[in-house]
Amino acid sequence: MVVPESQEKMYDPPNNLQRDAHVPDFDSYQAMYRKSLEDPEAFWKEIADEFFWKKPATGPMLQYNFDVSKGNIYVKCMEGAKTNMCYNVLDRHVREGNLGEKVAYYWEGNSPGHHATITYRQLLSHVCRCANVLKQMGVKKGDRVSIYLPMIPELIYAMLACARIGAVHSIVFAGFSSESLSERIMDAQSSVLITADGVYRGEKLINLKHISDEALEKCREKESCSVTTCLVVKHHSMRTISGTSCNKLQISWDSQRDVWWDEAMADSPEECEPEWLDAEDPLFILYTSGSTGKPKGVMHTVAGYLLYTSLTFKYVFDHHLDDVYWCTADIGWITGHSYIAYGPLANGATSVLFEGIPVHPHVGRFWEIIEKYKVSKFYTAPTAIRLLMKYGREPVQKYDLSSLRILGTVGEPINAEAWQWYYEAVGHGRCPVVDTYWQTETGGHVLTPLPAATPLKPGSATFPFFGVEPSILSEHGEELAGEAEGYLVFRRPWPGIMRTVYKNHERFENTYFKKFPGFYVTGDGVRRDKDGYYWITGRIDDMLNVSGHLMSTAEVEGALSLHPAVSEAAVVSRPHKVKGESLYCFVTLKNSIDFNKTLEDELKKLVREKIGPIATPDFIQNAPALPKTRSGKIMRRILRNIARNERDVGDLSTLADPKVVEELFSERSEAAA
Ligand code: PRX
Repeated sequence: MVVPESQEKMYDPPNNLQRDAHVPDFDSYQAMYRKSLEDPEAFWKEIADEFFWKKPATGPMLQYNFDVSKGNIYVKCMEGAKTNMCYNVLDRHVREGNLGEKVAYYWEGNSPGHHATITYRQLLSHVCRCANVLKQMGVKKGDRVSIYLPMIPELIYAMLACARIGAVHSIVFAGFSSESLSERIMDAQSSVLITADGVYRGEKLINLKHISDEALEKCREKESCSVTTCLVVKHHSMRTISGTSCNKLQISWDSQRDVWWDEAMADSPEECEPEWLDAEDPLFILYTSGSTGKPKGVMHTVAGYLLYTSLTFKYVFDHHLDDVYWCTADIGWITGHSYIAYGPLANGATSVLFEGIPVHPHVGRFWEIIEKYKVSKFYTAPTAIRLLMKYGREPVQKYDLSSLRILGTVGEPINAEAWQWYYEAVGHGRCPVVDTYWQTETGGHVLTPLPAATPLKPGSATFPFFGVEPSILSEHGEELAGEAEGYLVFRRPWPGIMRTVYKNHERFENTYFKKFPGFYVTGDGVRRDKDGYYWITGRIDDMLNVSGHLMSTAEVEGALSLHPAVSEAAVVSRPHKVKGESLYCFVTLKNSIDFNKTLEDELKKLVREKIGPIATPDFIQNAPALPKTRSGKIMRRILRNIARNERDVGDLSTLADPKVVEELFSERSEAAA
């Protein structure tokens, strides 16, 4: 790797940041990076020494096999060590670090009037009480607990309570449908579901309890339902003035199964001895879309995930104890797990925990919150930036954003225009933008700038983080040196990489290690420029990234095909100005059924019900037939051309019936007319 000497516009780190930065310049980054690869044992040992280990490791910091031809794929970190995640992110600060009175979270609700402040000491107390409640409900080490909650403090209490007693949390984003929730509960075989009665998202009231009831009913219909207890948080905005429950919301109650959170917590003791877990015991499962349509339960383990999220948070956001950090993600996604919960807490950070949406009650909400809490490090998604950009600079200029030091993005490629706007309108040209590339599977950042060290190129996730060794492979598996484009793979693990797909190790091996033996395959394309910078070019499998949410075409096609009028469906991605990508769906209807607006609406509704609002199709087009090869494979390349109205579709010789393409273009123009 060389220090960049490019002619294109680059942004040097600001001097004021470099003065007290953990990694003050590019040479320091390179030296640390080299050490992390040349002597990983010493590098990670030094990091591990900052944490509490009930028993030290007997094995090396990292052991692994990435080559399917040599046996099972595995990664182990600190074998033999015993520890507890919750102890490390809470007790360690309160008992040993004198941070008990430090604010862990400024919680900011959906409506501006709703907020709360939670110190580390208070957090520990809530978590212990919740841990005791779970134990009372019979939850033991290794049991799974599904959590379907909005962004309220109870979500943090619940996840850390699981971590404290060694239960494995499976958090399901509270925008998912009852179908998606039930699928995840059944796969995890959770014994407890933690949910809330309802929540306002912007102006919209969502009956989470009803969705949860439906999900549990669906589990029962398919097999016996594993959930014996449903713990229900009464959301503060559902409380009425008289104090009687849920006047605004109709919810049903199963007194054998359902328990109010407040009632359960009321007499629960504040002391709870942590369960001392093996370094490689599971910490959580988080489901992510798989290209077959069935979500994969990505499993992360205790010690490696602790080391990695903690270290990446410290360096990528150059964390200092007086910072106020805000990541706008939802904890239902990996970004929230790693960079709202575990990474910041491991560092004793003060974070904003935001329940609302960027445009409610006004389009300056993000900026208002930054001013209110004097946020110094701000981490959001390109899709949010593009959305807010549409309203121009005026809503940003109303607020004092001088507290900001570092800006971050995650989840999808950021286009140069959005990068520039973020850098100038929000950061006033003084804050580096760290474009962090990573995945649910990687646990933490893997390609990322370090704010005081890395000269930035807008749109590039720049260089690998410590311990990460990327490589670019050709279709034939040859490693490409220098300037190159191909498959992004990693040659060795870092502590935070996933360990398996829950209950399906074979799928783990097939998905990530089979195509190129010896490498972890990300599924993303990448380009390396002449300065060694990495540029993510997007997914190379059948996955789409809508507003930073990864979903598989198969999942959406599966939902569309459930409609009795549909005989076949194919979904492709079409570029979208705000969401990055959007869903363009082709449906072939059964004989003599007409395509019309009512059917289109029904199909959209069906996908929302089956997956959730994030998967709502943007376009649905009638397809009398789909372009297929003679062996019957749908040619998605051609469908992508049609979706984008690109007439130059290239070689059609492999198609069974090339006429189909013209038909689809003509259907498209009719629909547009
Ligand atoms: O395609 C990449 C894209 O998001 C995928 C991972 O999605 P998920 O597991 O849901 O995790 C999202 C949050 C980490 C990747 O395979 N992606 C993520 N970050 C970036 C990105 N694409 C380009 N640039 C990024 N910074």
